[in-house]
Amino acid sequence: MLLRALRIAQNFAASPAKIAWLQGRLAWKAFAVELRHQDTINRRFDKIYGTDTADEVALSALGIPGREAERGNLIYRPLWEKNFHSTITRFHETLGNRLNSYSFVDIGSGKGKLLLLASLYPFKRVRGIEYATGLHKIAEKNISCFRNVNQRCHDIAAILGDALNYKLPPGPVVAMMFNAFDIKTTAKVLTTLVDQRPPGMGACFIIYENVRRTSEIGTAFDVPLPWETLERTRNRIIVGNAEAVREWRREFSDICVVDLCADADPLKVSAHRQIEAANAVSQQVRK
Ligand SMILES: C[S@@+](CC[C@H](N)C(=O)[O-])C[C@H]1O[C@@H](n2cnc3c(N)ncnc32)[C@H](O)[C@@H]1O
Repeated sequence: MLLRALRIAQNFAASPAKIAWLQGRLAWKAFAVELRHQDTINRRFDKIYGTDTADEVALSALGIPGREAERGNLIYRPLWEKNFHSTITRFHETLGNRLNSYSFVDIGSGKGKLLLLASLYPFKRVRGIEYATGLHKIAEKNISCFRNVNQRCHDIAAILGDALNYKLPPGPVVAMMFNAFDIKTTAKVLTTLVDQRPPGMGACFIIYENVRRTSEIGTAFDVPLPWETLERTRNRIIVGNAEAVREWRREFSDICVVDLCADADPLKVSAHRQIEAANAVSQQVRK
């Protein structure tokens, strides 16, 4: 304990940028606390549904050879539920009923937790691609035992294979990767998904999730034109092809229509109010 405190004090003293050093240390501490909290939530999920998703597993313990495990970011860990729901709710609100023509795909799907969570939304189908056989088998078991009255999609499948060779299913897609690869591999997987996408698939959204900071991925999630980055926040990056961009922007015309209906969705109405307020401000600026 004393030795540890001494080492920390020495590191602090040796650091040329002391404020940045302190900020970095505090951020890691906060992350460790949140990780423990989210682990409790994950364990509760498993207890309720009789699944096995919470335990983290080193890829090396699953027989993935050293360099290959490094490319796969070394560890299986499920995405935090709040992050997943926050992202997918955003799509549900934006796409409305059109979500039921979309496939959800988890690239590096581990034990299949996100496949189970995605099945609570009205996707047409849910797919996950995972290269560790041990994790894939657990995912299959989890899918077969998961029961939830709120399940809206029952076409769920885990696929065993390498994401570097994976081709997206036909039709519009929302694909997600949760920090599944190192920087170089992330760029390669993104290029493969973009280049090998089925012809005429319609809108294709690809999401990168990171529970710390998306800046960790550098420029690996930069997409070639005419693809666009639709959103970049601390925890997620969303990119899309031209059709996806149109879908993303169509949200605003839908909102105006919905607001005229008696049974308007309160979330969309409140978004519309924000737009009205923004319009009022810009009109004042023009005056
Ligand atoms: C951080 S875990 C996320 C698991 C899952 N998405 C979730 O949130 O529950 C990343 C997963 O990607 C898998 N993975 C890494 N490289 C892969 C590759 N080349 N092909 C398929 N899966 C891969 C790992 O085995 C691991 O299960």
